[in-house]
Amino acid sequence: MRNILITSALPYANGPIHLGHLVEYIQTDIWARFQRMRGHTCYYVCADDAHGTPIMLRAQQEGITPEQLIAKVAEEHKADFAGFAVGFDNYYSTHSQENREIAQSIYLALRDAGHIERRIISQLFDPEKQMFLPDRFVKGSCPRCGAEDQYGDNCEVCGATYDASELKNPRSVVSGATPVEKESEHFFFKLADFEQSIRDWIHPKAGEAAHMQPEVVNKMDEWFSAGLQDWDISRDAPYFGFEIPDAPGKYFYVWMDAPMGYMASFKHFCAQKGLNFDDFWGANSQAELYHFIGKDIMRFHTFFWPAVLEGAGYRKPNAVYVHGFLTVNGAKMSKSRGTFIKARTFLDHLNPEYLRYYIAGKLNNRVEDIDLNLEDFVARVNADLVGKVINIGSRCAGFINKRFDNRLADKLPEPQLYQEFADAADSLAQLFENREYSRAVRDIMALADKANQYIDTAQPWVIAKQSERDGELHAVCSQGINLFRVLMAYLKPIIPTTVQKAEEFLNETLQWRSVQSPLLGHTIAKFSHMMQRVEQSNVDALLEASKEDIKTMQESSKPTSGPLATDPIADTIAFEDFAKVDLRIARIVKADHVEGAEKLLQLTLDLGGETRNVFAGIKSAYSPEQLQGKLTVMVANLAPRKMRFGVSEGMVLAAGPGGKDLWILNPDDGAQPGMKVK
Ligand code: 2FM
Ligand code: ZN
Repeated sequence: MRNILITSALPYANGPIHLGHLVEYIQTDIWARFQRMRGHTCYYVCADDAHGTPIMLRAQQEGITPEQLIAKVAEEHKADFAGFAVGFDNYYSTHSQENREIAQSIYLALRDAGHIERRIISQLFDPEKQMFLPDRFVKGSCPRCGAEDQYGDNCEVCGATYDASELKNPRSVVSGATPVEKESEHFFFKLADFEQSIRDWIHPKAGEAAHMQPEVVNKMDEWFSAGLQDWDISRDAPYFGFEIPDAPGKYFYVWMDAPMGYMASFKHFCAQKGLNFDDFWGANSQAELYHFIGKDIMRFHTFFWPAVLEGAGYRKPNAVYVHGFLTVNGAKMSKSRGTFIKARTFLDHLNPEYLRYYIAGKLNNRVEDIDLNLEDFVARVNADLVGKVINIGSRCAGFINKRFDNRLADKLPEPQLYQEFADAADSLAQLFENREYSRAVRDIMALADKANQYIDTAQPWVIAKQSERDGELHAVCSQGINLFRVLMAYLKPIIPTTVQKAEEFLNETLQWRSVQSPLLGHTIAKFSHMMQRVEQSNVDALLEASKEDIKTMQESSKPTSGPLATDPIADTIAFEDFAKVDLRIARIVKADHVEGAEKLLQLTLDLGGETRNVFAGIKSAYSPEQLQGKLTVMVANLAPRKMRFGVSEGMVLAAGPGGKDLWILNPDDGAQPGMKVK
């Protein structure tokens, strides 16, 4: 028997679980359930990742403490996971006493062994908020291509990566202030001290099977060639996290204590169950340890984490299993198309087992993106699960229930066919073990086709009409139920809730080895309906509801009170600069929609003899009809700007936070087009 501990990445405690997350939890949960069915001990732990600047700021925005925020989100996350039957043995938080102790003791061990170095660095600082700004909290123009509104680490337009301090016209996303450079002492983990040990870890020893995926090893080799840099593990106050023991005002960077959350969650579990923590984490542990993660967080798990573990005297994972991203209908999950789907919204509209099955049918052990094509999703779930698998049971159960007093026959008419089904157990186990779920699903469905062919040929509904053939009917239906039972056993890691209903019907708990002997002379229960068809209308409703979710999320992420509530006043300008602005009254003589533009209206403005063409981003607040004939104020001497839709020759003035709440400046009627505004 194996002792296995597995984890999935810890979701951040400031947002909802969505379908992108679920790929990983479903993948890991299937593996855990499979291992348990095989009779191994397999613990599956996880936690909320509760620290860091975004969580601190989010709590401020909501006017609550970070502790209140993470407690609220933890409840939502737990309910979502339970809804999808993701069966953690323990779900905890990185903001826990166990994690605090682990983080401190690991840090002290690393420090005492000489793996921590202190250095003064210079970083962007928000003088208004009095805080250092992580890269994602600084925006400005790209230093390479000049594109506006780019984050402090890379440009989404030209792909350049850079330092936040290189941004042109930087501004703090938190307050709008212009950041300044400020020095501060930081703590660095000397990753290069562990280069050899990480290299040894990823390459299997002689006679050992390769654990890490080849793509992961290749990627790591690239990173090795680029050189292992020291890793900055500290952040300055204000920060929501754990203070570093010997350094008041300095906190562990969220990524330092996040993976320790795996240990902390397990420690908490050990205390409840009387297990020995060191049996799983001690340097000499014989247990197996695997982390399931997405490709975006590979470096943290394949370099920093094993090095930290090694440096602090713990064992390293047997492997880190990396998966790709989820696309929906072939594209990145999109808020505007309604394909950014929250776990909760899915649960409101569809049976979660559909998604578990569909995702399993797509997953393999490579670092590839997988696509949820909603049309294919409906077709596949209906054809496979409802049309093939459940159908086998429902075609045979009624006769056993009604004609044979719920009792299966003592002998099967086609023992070889049964044996063929039972013999698939080993190869399927190999596929599950190797996380080749899509191949397992394909093989299970091939067996389901065979079972249906058997029933099609045997035609129990015809035999049932001839009372002298009762024995045959009993045998055929018992064969059918037994084939159904084998399929259900193989599908149990994937669709556990449906299989639980099948187990109630079969009057038996299915293990992997159960199928090695058929169920004979056994009393079963009434067949209850185990799964409905997926209806396209439910999928449509899901997409509609997801569009609504996005609106709500966007509204609620808009600050409502406190220092983030209003845009800050920009830097002052000299009076001479102001005097340069030529503001004039203009009459909107024409307003039109602009084809292909989401926000713009095309305005024809009369400036008292002169006509100007101006594109204005006010479509969310006004329809063209509302504007025609109105007076407004415009900047008349703005240099013409070439836009995608034409040249804009000025700018109209409007006020308000945006969206529907935007008011075009609308002078009283005494004003005449062309008048100067004083
Ligand atoms: O990327 C993320 O969502 C992180 N919260 C994952 C953390 S995994 C582990 F290291 F804690
Ligand atoms: Zn750029």
